[in-house]
Amino acid sequence: MAMHRRIYLLTAGMVFSMGAFAIAEAGSVWLDTLDVSLIQTGWGDSRANRSVDGNPLSIQGKEFERGVGTHADSLFMIQLDGEATELSALVGVDDEVSKDETKRGSVVFKVIGDKKELWSSEQMKGGQAAKECRVDIKGIKVLTLVVEQGDDNTYDHADWAMAKIDYAGKAPVALEIPRPKPYILTPKAGPRPRITGPKVFGVRPGNPFLFTVTATGERPMKFDVQGLPEGLTLDASSGQIRGTVRKAGEYKTTVIAENKLGKAQREFRISVGDKICLTPPMGWNSWNCWACAVDDDKVRASAKAMVDSGLINHGWTYINIDDCWMRKAGAQDPAIGEPVRDNDGYPISNARFPDMKKLTDYIHQLGLKAGVYISPGPTTCQGYIGSWKFERQDAQQFAEWGFDYLKYDWCGYSDVSGNEKMEDLQRPYILMRKMLDEVDRDIVYSLCQYGWGDVWTWGEAVGGNCWRTTGDITDSWSSMAGIGFAQADHAQYAKPGCWNDPDMLVVGKVGWGPKLHDSRLTPDEQYTHISLWCLLNSPLLIGCPIEQLDDFTYSLLTNDEVLDINQDPLGQQARRIYNESGKQVWVKRLEDGALAVGLFNTQSFSQAVTVGWKDIDVRGTQTVRDLWRQADEGRFESQYSVEVPAHGVKLIRVSK
Ligand code: GAL
Repeated sequence: MAMHRRIYLLTAGMVFSMGAFAIAEAGSVWLDTLDVSLIQTGWGDSRANRSVDGNPLSIQGKEFERGVGTHADSLFMIQLDGEATELSALVGVDDEVSKDETKRGSVVFKVIGDKKELWSSEQMKGGQAAKECRVDIKGIKVLTLVVEQGDDNTYDHADWAMAKIDYAGKAPVALEIPRPKPYILTPKAGPRPRITGPKVFGVRPGNPFLFTVTATGERPMKFDVQGLPEGLTLDASSGQIRGTVRKAGEYKTTVIAENKLGKAQREFRISVGDKICLTPPMGWNSWNCWACAVDDDKVRASAKAMVDSGLINHGWTYINIDDCWMRKAGAQDPAIGEPVRDNDGYPISNARFPDMKKLTDYIHQLGLKAGVYISPGPTTCQGYIGSWKFERQDAQQFAEWGFDYLKYDWCGYSDVSGNEKMEDLQRPYILMRKMLDEVDRDIVYSLCQYGWGDVWTWGEAVGGNCWRTTGDITDSWSSMAGIGFAQADHAQYAKPGCWNDPDMLVVGKVGWGPKLHDSRLTPDEQYTHISLWCLLNSPLLIGCPIEQLDDFTYSLLTNDEVLDINQDPLGQQARRIYNESGKQVWVKRLEDGALAVGLFNTQSFSQAVTVGWKDIDVRGTQTVRDLWRQADEGRFESQYSVEVPAHGVKLIRVSK
């Protein structure tokens, strides 16, 4: 509802050319009357006359009737066509976060006119009084209202209170934020054989073994493995190795892939002992796409597409079902009035998963592995049954069904945990470890408790293979970058068999329910996401339906030189060696002595980022290889400098 007032405009031009008075419309428009659904919002949805959480707008105790509540990073583009005169607003961090001292956002409000900065609030923190913003916008064609993150990047609930634009002529209109076009860097895999995937695989003696040797290149392909330990056999056409090895030891094998165009070979180490998960798990998880809309068909579709699309040829392995496969908690599932466990306490899957064993059989015959999820509490996050008091039955059932991966998600355990002191935080994970040790199956043990109690310092001690270090990720820059760039302090705890887990990937189509949308990350942000997760040795769990992969997402997930950084057998996590003015440099040492270096730009404009050889402890001229393009950039004497796009990355390999 624009506040129109008709006024008579007299301009010199009109007097001379028309020689008369002209009537034009002028007025003010409240920002909240424009289409706020077009605002690009870092978290949640921007709202008219409400904060991003849906409360009345309020800054330092003062409530405002009108305005727009949003969340950094936020962009609101408005078409003015040179007909507006002034923007006015009162800006600040909303009280819904600043009341709590531990949750004080910090943001910068900016007004951009035709790409030029017209006004900046400078950094504002929660609890600070609203600042007046009054900006002359005469002649501006497109106005952009920006909210950037301040020093920290959480709780940035930002209000443009009482915001309005005065205009003379055409009324302002909200514009759709143009989405940058995806661009593909990954070269297409060549027709000749090239072996991919991990160079080492761990298994416990006597437990079922399944590993698929993978390679890119034209099919048919013939595989061979020289030096396989006793008890294992290879299927030469699929590359699947199965069986059991009774004798512990390190077995050095040579893997060979051959097609009509040539032959490739590579060393592959099979480590038979008490350690599994020697490289970060790579696969798919149902949560970020389907959440509780997951069912047997959808899981099979992703598994099948993993093979049909060729993703499997790049080392992608796990097909993991997240929450919502069980029955709803209670003695009986309230929806169907039937028990949630059988007479012996074994869990029963719900109607969307008619036969778990058949499902894992299907996944395994494709050469893939299967994952499952449950909570140590009486209920999962979504109110389905948890393992509480049935830990033994659940571990046994998962093994019997044939699962290879368990995500054990705290959630409902809060109801029974006690004080949440350190021993309370560890208790359920220690208990399930014990139960998993009693089954004859290797099950990757993934702890999910959002990083509480600095889990990275004790995840290994309780027998975890990976542990979530943060809350849930979503497909926004502030979430992804906020999580990813906060991982610098955990590097020392990562090693083969033990991985920090900054949560699953948000590329491709995501949605947490039946309705999916394209990830809201820009292409450069997605390059940042994958590059950073590879440098961090993070488990790589794709959160989109594989059968719906677009070409860009496919290219992001099939760059073998980038994936090799994640799968490097040394298992060293990247360390941040530089962090200033939105420029970050992360360095990861690789098994062959080379370094993977990520040059990141977290600003919303492009800028040059430099890494000096002495900062990364290398001497003399070095070869720099662009990993995304899989091409050498040349030899560099003392440093490497590159222009990095907004929110983007250059991922390189530095070697002698
Ligand atoms: C959360 C967990 C998510 C997802 C969800 C399922 O606690 O962090 O990754 O598993 O539960 O309800």
